[in-house]
Amino acid sequence: MSSSSTSSGEGERESVVKKKKEGLGWMEWVRGWFYLAYEMMFQRIMASHLHNPMHLPPLNDITCIVTGSTSGIGLQIARQLAESGAHVVMAVRNPKAANELIQKWQEEWSGMGLPLNIEVMELNLLSLDSVAKFAEAWNARSGPLHVLINNAGIFSIGEPQKFSKDGYEEHMQVNHLAPALLSILLLPSLIRGSPSRIINVNSIMHHVGFVDTEDMNVVSGKRKYTSLVGYSSSKLAEVMFSSVLHKRLPAEAGINVLCVSPGIVQTNVARDLPKIVQAAYHLIPYFILSPQEGSRSALFAATDPQIPEYCDMLKADEWPVCAFISQDCRPTNPSEEAHNVETSYKVWEKTLEMIGLSSDAVERLVEGEEVKCRYGVHQQ
Ligand SMILES: NC(=O)c1ccc[n+]([C@@H]2O[C@H](COP(=O)([O-])OP(=O)(O)OC[C@H]3O[C@@H](n4cnc5c(N)ncnc54)[C@H](OP(=O)(O)O)[C@@H]3O)[C@@H](O)[C@H]2O)c1
Repeated sequence: MSSSSTSSGEGERESVVKKKKEGLGWMEWVRGWFYLAYEMMFQRIMASHLHNPMHLPPLNDITCIVTGSTSGIGLQIARQLAESGAHVVMAVRNPKAANELIQKWQEEWSGMGLPLNIEVMELNLLSLDSVAKFAEAWNARSGPLHVLINNAGIFSIGEPQKFSKDGYEEHMQVNHLAPALLSILLLPSLIRGSPSRIINVNSIMHHVGFVDTEDMNVVSGKRKYTSLVGYSSSKLAEVMFSSVLHKRLPAEAGINVLCVSPGIVQTNVARDLPKIVQAAYHLIPYFILSPQEGSRSALFAATDPQIPEYCDMLKADEWPVCAFISQDCRPTNPSEEAHNVETSYKVWEKTLEMIGLSSDAVERLVEGEEVKCRYGVHQQ
């Protein structure tokens, strides 16, 4: 065989080996939809061992930030944490609605114990400036943060593709980029609160997601944009980023990163569904969880005493993914694609670039150094 045919053969092999994955394989796709259907049918049975509301331990010494706590799952998370004694910060884009909720909760709580220790701070995840300013204001208190719950999210079902003023596809920004920036910028406070936890309210729908790191905004035309593509990709990106963040944080920092699935829950997330589908949603309450039921996996991840040990074990075993807690509060495995370590690191790098942080931002923050961010107060 001539040397030229050998090298062309090698070239071909190389191009086969290096062929970029451009979507989920059909088996992964079918499996993803199977998981979704299974969860829909059996989530209530799987979670039948859980109390509702969930019993929480006394939380008097902890401070928690809950994003998107004016409705649905986040509202339940914030209220239950506060009723168990935690200092809760409702990080919301509509402070008036949050203040009205607090007033109502205080009235309903009166006579049951000390007033709820709960406050409101403004945070709009569609603006990375808002995220950076929020983190700056929180860190300036120089107090500890024990639990950050990245709950806020959107699923603009059937809506045309939209972009934030930062130029990013809205699902990707609200569900992944903004929570990623918030988590990293709050590391100094989470270190002060260590042992501490970052909980990302994810979704079983990440199983049908695929992230193309060269096209995070789904604009190249390689994939047709639908709200399902936007949502599922953003949730998968969040799992992949969380897995790398968990690995990059040294054990001494004492911060654990987890993703949770709340189940399929009746909330405002379905607000964009056609009216007829919304009506059907109301007719099947047996299958769909209430927001209080949907809050249990996040509350479990935020408060269960065995979580740090479990996360440490995954880290020590160099497990490719971070802890993922399912709606029945049991550890589970995220999707096969979430285990793709090479893509996870690409998602990590691309995300840091998009949120305006340097690639060593986490290491520098852990060392107690300041990091510069493209967004926020300093940039004005
Ligand atoms: N419901 C389900 O079946 C389901 C299933 C899997 C995962 N999840 C996840 O659960 C989380 C909570 O959703 P949910 O079902 O409780 O829906 P929801 O009732 O619509 O609540 C979403 C919350 O996020 C807030 N939010 C939206 N955009 C925001 C922004 N730009 N900045 C700040 N806050 C923003 C909303 O604020 P406003 O009230 O101001 O709009 C609201 O408080 C989401 O991450 C969602 O993806 C839900």
